[in-house]
Amino acid sequence: MKNKFYITTPIYYPSANAHIGHAYCTVMCDILARYKRMRGVETYFLTGTDEHGEKIQKNAALKGVTPQEFVDEIAGNFKNLWKAMKISNDDFIRTTEERHIKVVQDVFSKLYNNGDIYLGNYEGWYCTPCESFWTDTQVGEEHLCPDCHREVHRDKEEAYFFNTKKYLPELLDIMEKNPKFILPISRKNEMFNTFIKPGLDDLCVSRTTFDWGVQIRENPKHVIYVWMDALTNYISALGYHSENEELYKKFWEDPDCEIVHVVGADISRFHVIYWPMFLLGIGARVPDRVFVHGLLDLNGEKMSKSRGNVVSPLPLIERYGVDAVRWFLAKEFSFGSDGRFSPELFVERTNMDLANNFGNLVSRTSSMIVKYFDGVVPELKNPNEKIKEIEHLTKKTILAYENYLDDLKVNEGFSEVIDLLNVANKYIEESQPWVLSKEGRVEELGNVMAVLVNTIMVAAKLLSPALVETLDKVYDIFGIKEELRNYEALQKFCPYAGSNVTKGNALFPRLDMNVETEYIHSLSAK
Ligand code: MSP
Repeated sequence: MKNKFYITTPIYYPSANAHIGHAYCTVMCDILARYKRMRGVETYFLTGTDEHGEKIQKNAALKGVTPQEFVDEIAGNFKNLWKAMKISNDDFIRTTEERHIKVVQDVFSKLYNNGDIYLGNYEGWYCTPCESFWTDTQVGEEHLCPDCHREVHRDKEEAYFFNTKKYLPELLDIMEKNPKFILPISRKNEMFNTFIKPGLDDLCVSRTTFDWGVQIRENPKHVIYVWMDALTNYISALGYHSENEELYKKFWEDPDCEIVHVVGADISRFHVIYWPMFLLGIGARVPDRVFVHGLLDLNGEKMSKSRGNVVSPLPLIERYGVDAVRWFLAKEFSFGSDGRFSPELFVERTNMDLANNFGNLVSRTSSMIVKYFDGVVPELKNPNEKIKEIEHLTKKTILAYENYLDDLKVNEGFSEVIDLLNVANKYIEESQPWVLSKEGRVEELGNVMAVLVNTIMVAAKLLSPALVETLDKVYDIFGIKEELRNYEALQKFCPYAGSNVTKGNALFPRLDMNVETEYIHSLSAK
């Protein structure tokens, strides 16, 4: 494991408010950032908004406001949403900020002076919603954008081009030498077969038909292509080419920092092909990994504002709490595969993992310790074979969890913990504490309680990158001392004797399937 970690979300278009799909990507990055910090890795987590381009300019005009006013409002909404979702980003970059604009211009000039960018003419098919030019073959006879399947239009303009041929061999070499550069690995072939194998055209990197963008210093009637502008955020936010390059040096230049971009499947080619090429052009290091996550739909339909079927995370957080929403996003979908949001799945997931499994274990254990031991966690004495087996399983779970999360496999890591919680719930049934109490087998009864408390603490800590509010609640219920609240404490088995337990409210109340699905359906119908 490298000793520093830099993780980024895509910077979102503030053309409309965020929906559950944007929240998904941000929450997954937040979980990874929190996990690394918990492991003592110095971490920097960046998100932000991508505020230039024709689409934003058109949306602002439709609303009768300036583009800047338009993006100010929506960028503010994004920031508020991330706050409500307890996202722990270290910075929020907006591409209309001075600190960013200057860096984009510098990057362009550097590439231009290198001879990587040249002036030519562009004629092709343009998709405004995707801000992308496409070739005849790509749009087919129907003239539809291969990404979003909307109609494209013909566009011709004097434009600057980035010479992709120059860096292609080096890029292929990087992909070859670092098999984890594109993750999941299945995405690598898709990328290669769709975009590289048919032949990679030079990339058009400037526009003249609108002006909401970063001007090219050398030729101000051009604005820099919104993707070149946007991708640069990953280094402009660290102060690249600014008076204070401290963060850039610390996180981008240090080979001991792992750099991970998490992106949706819709935008992977920009991150896997062009962004590394720009970096090679300016003589900077390329990221270690581009993790391509799947896209979520709603009941099988693509979520979009025009269809009126977007789900906002805010009302869900208000009704079910931030941890339930974060948990659903983290656990329901395999990170890297497409997924489906549905109210039924949300209710089922919350009940199954949080109410019936984790929450139930916490409430049964705390009640039993209050009832049988006056609220004081007993000491583990003379553990039997079963307990040794659970100790072994606990250590194995922690290790497997760490390996999965280091490999960005969040879902699999959490599954290990859920399995451990299942074992603990089963252990209650098998050991029958109520019988032990009746028969006066106090030492055995105490051991069962000690083991349950230990399992709860391990689970609460390992799940805390997702369940950010639950950990402290669990610590408070079990009166865990400050010195036992760190990650290292998990290496000890049952160190919690003497803690004072109080019976708390249910951590996660069970949701009524009919009532709650109806409620969530009503949100997306608006
Ligand atoms: N502005 C560009 C990104 C520039 S990054 C240098 C952009 N923005 S976006 O707002 O359209 O989408 C960005 C990301 O949001 C997607 O790549 C994906 O991570 C996330 N999602 C948007 N819709 C989503 C779903 N329906 N499901 C899952 N993630 C979704 O592209």
